[in-house]
Parts: sequence; C-alpha cells; structure tokens
Amino acid sequence: MIKAVRGTRDLLPPYTALWNFVEAAVRDVFRAYNFQEIRTPIFEETALFSRSVGEETDIVSKEMYTWEDGERFNEKKMIDEWVAANQSSEPGHVQLGRVNVNPNPPFQLDCIQLYVTRGLGDPSRPWAGAVGSREEFVAFAPRISPDAIAALKKALGIARSQYANQFGSYQILLRLVVPDAATRSSPWLNTEGLEVEGFPGDFFSSSQSLTLRPENTAGVVRAYIENHLWDRGLNKLYYIGPQFRRERPQKGRYRQFYQIGAEVIGPASAGSESPARDAEVLEMLATLLDRLGITDWNLELNSVGCSSDRAKFNEALRKALEPVVGKMCADCQRRAVTNPLRVFDCKVPEDQPIIEKLPRISQFLDEPCRTHFEAVQAILTKVGVRFSLNDRLVRGLDYYTRTAFEFTHGALGAQNAILGGGRYDGLSEALGGPAAPGIGFAIGEDRLVMSLKETAEGVLRKPDVYVAPMAGMNGEAARLARELRQHDLVVELGDETFRLKKSFEAATRAGAKYILIVGENEVKADAFAVKNLATGEQVQVARAELAGKIQGK
Ligand code: HAM
Repeated sequence: MIKAVRGTRDLLPPYTALWNFVEAAVRDVFRAYNFQEIRTPIFEETALFSRSVGEETDIVSKEMYTWEDGERFNEKKMIDEWVAANQSSEPGHVQLGRVNVNPNPPFQLDCIQLYVTRGLGDPSRPWAGAVGSREEFVAFAPRISPDAIAALKKALGIARSQYANQFGSYQILLRLVVPDAATRSSPWLNTEGLEVEGFPGDFFSSSQSLTLRPENTAGVVRAYIENHLWDRGLNKLYYIGPQFRRERPQKGRYRQFYQIGAEVIGPASAGSESPARDAEVLEMLATLLDRLGITDWNLELNSVGCSSDRAKFNEALRKALEPVVGKMCADCQRRAVTNPLRVFDCKVPEDQPIIEKLPRISQFLDEPCRTHFEAVQAILTKVGVRFSLNDRLVRGLDYYTRTAFEFTHGALGAQNAILGGGRYDGLSEALGGPAAPGIGFAIGEDRLVMSLKETAEGVLRKPDVYVAPMAGMNGEAARLARELRQHDLVVELGDETFRLKKSFEAATRAGAKYILIVGENEVKADAFAVKNLATGEQVQVARAELAGKIQGK
C-alpha cells in the first residue's frame, strides 16, 4: 500500500474545520490592518533561497527539497542537424528525407520521427522508389532506453506485416539516434540487434536547479523586485500556504507544513523602515492570537543590528569561541568558522553553558539601531503588548536585520515557536533589487491549530436539515433541498432507496438538527413533516415556511 510520505499528512474533516476557522479569522484581522493577499509559486530557483535564507543555515544546508529541472532533450535540433548531415548530393541518390515526421498510421509510435528512403533511383521520379534502396525508420532519443527500443521493434513488426507488398524485397532498417555521449552511458542495455547511432552535438537545453519553497519571504521579495511593487509605495502582503523542509518529523514539525505569513515592504520614503511598522506588525499578531483565544503566548524580542554591527559582533564571537570551540559539538565547530552567529541555534545541552557566556549582539548595536529598537519597545508598551527581551534570539535565517522576534506557546512542547519573524532591510538589495526595507513574520499554522482551545466539532457547521426522500421521491427531494440551500441552510440530502429507519440514522450521524420527510402525500399537500431530532417534536410545515421554521425564525 502506498502511504503518505514521511513528514506529510492528510488533513481530514472534521479537523479541517479548525483550519478554516483559523484562516477565516486571520483573513479578517489582515483586512482590518489593510493587508492584501499575495500568492507566489511553491517552487523557485534554488539560488533565491541560498542567497536570502543563507548557505550556512540549517534550512539551506540540509533541509531543502532541491532538484535539477528542465534538463530537456531538444529533439527538433537533433533531427534538423541529423537530416542536414544525411542529405546526399550524390546524383541519382534518392533521399526522401523527412517524409513522416509525424507519421501516418500505422507508424504512430511516439519515438518514430523519420521515415527515410535511401538508395539509387531516378531523382526526377522519387516516388517511384529506388533501385537497391532501403527504408529506414529513425527514432531520436536522449538515451538508449528500453522504451525506445520496444517502440522501434514494434514499428518494425508493423512495417513488415502491413507494408510487405509495397516494400517487396526492400530492406527495412531501424535506427535509434542518440547523442554521442549517450552511446557510452548504458552499455548494459540489450539493443536487440537495433542499429544505434551516436550523433555528435549538444542536444540538451541548460538545466535549472529548483527548490520547493522552505519559507515564503524570499518569494515575496523576489515578486516585489520582479513586479516593481515599489511603484505602489508601502506593500502590506499576506500569504497562507504550504512550505517544505526536510526536518526530522516530530510533534509540531512536519516536512510539508503550512505558514500564515505577512510582509511589509517598500521604499524607505513610504515608511517601511519606521519602528512604527515593527510595532504595528507585533500588535497585529497579539490581536490575532487573542482573537483566536490563544492567550498564553510569550513574545520574545531582540535586535540583531545592521550589517556593520554584525561584522563587529562576528569578530568578537570568533575571538570568544576560539579557546572554547574545541569542546563544542561538530556543528558549532563548523559554524564558528563559517557563520559564528549560528552557534546560538545550537540545541546540544552540553554546549549551552559555553553559549551562555558568549558576547551578545545587544552589546554591539550602533546608535541608529539602538534608537530604532527602543522606539519599537516604546510603542509596544504604549499599546499594551507585553514582551520579553531575549538577546540570544538570532533566528534561523540569515536575512534578518534589527528587530527579530518569536512568539512561543507553552502547550506546544519542544517545538514551542508558534511564529517567528523580523526585519530584513537589506534583502531586496541582496537579491539584486532596489533598497526596500521590510519586516514580516510567519506563523506555523500546524502549531497554531494545535494551540487552539476550540475543537473541530465546536466550529463545524453541522447540517440544519436532513432531507429524506421516500421511494421515487429523489427528484422532489432535490428540488426542495435546492430551495432550502438558497436560504443559506446546510442541507444533507438522503436517497429514496433508504428505509425511514436508515434515513433517521444517517441524519443523526450527520448531526442534523431536523429531518424532513419527502413523500408523495407531502408533495401533494405541499407541506412536509419536520422533526427536531434533539427534542423529537414533529410538526407539519407548508413549503413556503420551511426555511423560516428550520432557521428558528
Ligand atoms: P521560521 O522561523 O523559519 O521563519 O518559520 C516560522 C514558523 O513556521 C515557525 O515559528 C514555526 O511555527 C513554523 N515552522 C517552521 N518549520 C516548521 C516545520 N518543519 N513544521 C511545522 N512548522 C514549522 C520563516 O519562515 C520566515 N520566513 C518568517 C518571516 C517572514 N520573517 C520575515 N518575514
């Protein structure tokens, strides 16, 4: 049996009702803050992530789903060059060339591209055939494959049986033409007497390295640059969608997971750099979590400074690590050389006392960064959003500058970060765009749903009514269900083959409030028996009043 891939999962009803509940609530909140939705592709060029998230991060160095894409065999180019090379200038040599590029039946085999006649004949009457000529069915393929061989052999069978008269004693040849290098790549394949020709040249279009997005900020900034979104001033964008990281799966950690994120990005002149934006985003998050009934969150806040602060900090970190790094884990030893900041990501318990004593970025902030950070805190205090400062918080992605934050939630266990984000003032430029300061966050939707107090049953809208047709009444029942649904009622429709008892059971299982019986008499009288499944109360209701009755009006 084929199962869902490790780290992925099916989200099934009624559980999906919770996801819809969350998404509806966040869309409401985003609307109130004037954010609009952006949808970027699920895969992007690999370079986008290595240049933004950073080569040395866990995400890029070991967690991405990356593949070489678009290594396309350019069949047309090969055919053209092969035909040109095989054209004969010999007088009397008939070269019919590309007769059957898209061959008529019965040669409609995917791989047969050419039907060639060679031989000496009368050049003025090529259709008359040629003396001592031979027919060739020629296929072109990127490599010698069992499929290509099988298709050619099938063509030979068809040609021999159906064209025996026409071809008479002609020799029928099958030829598989592959790029020169490909003749050496599968020497173990039995070509079963088929003629294989290696043809020199490069017939592959250049390939591209693609990656399933491990996060969405890079995609949004790429879209900002590509679509000249600076023309719109300040962009306030949100997204909801799957992301992919090859992490070790555990509770709250998946290989396909979902993020609800937002980005505020634009030219500095549009206010994108202002601490007011940071505070607004954080206040929106507090509102959003409160609105979902998630109250016991903790906002951890830090400033990771700008690039010049970071250079000084990295220098100090390298120095401080030198005498102690030998005692640390292998990852930390590597990070100490390549990107010392990442040492703070280390989760190895034995390394923690060493990390505790390392210098902190807070000691290296320059004046503008310090002022910016203080302004963010002042607004948060003013609007009543509680936070705690954590100068060990460096986040797992390289693009951050200045404000960095995470919201944690106690109920989540080890994977307690419900969301993370921060500023990325240099990202657009790093990706070849104009200066465009920005700030954003991404909520782990899987974790958000896990922290809800609501249950799926609690938020699911159950059927208001179950319409139960008696024998022969499917049509009438469908008409009635259609009318009721136009009144915004949730209607579950039964089937005329069900006995009454089975209809009642189905209505109860579906959680319907009412059951409505559609029989011949009811249709004639234009009035229907409506039974409240909880109280057992049953009343006769005229068709025109049914919707009102069910709505409890
Ligand atoms: P991140 O911290 O890598 O940031 O991810 C944000 C959130 O996604 C995490 O706090 C967590 O809730 C969730 N998450 C991450 N990995 C997994 C996983 N394997 N399974 C389940 N949930 C997971 C970013 O992705 C940045 N793009 C956020 C951002 C936006 N910064 C600025 N703008």
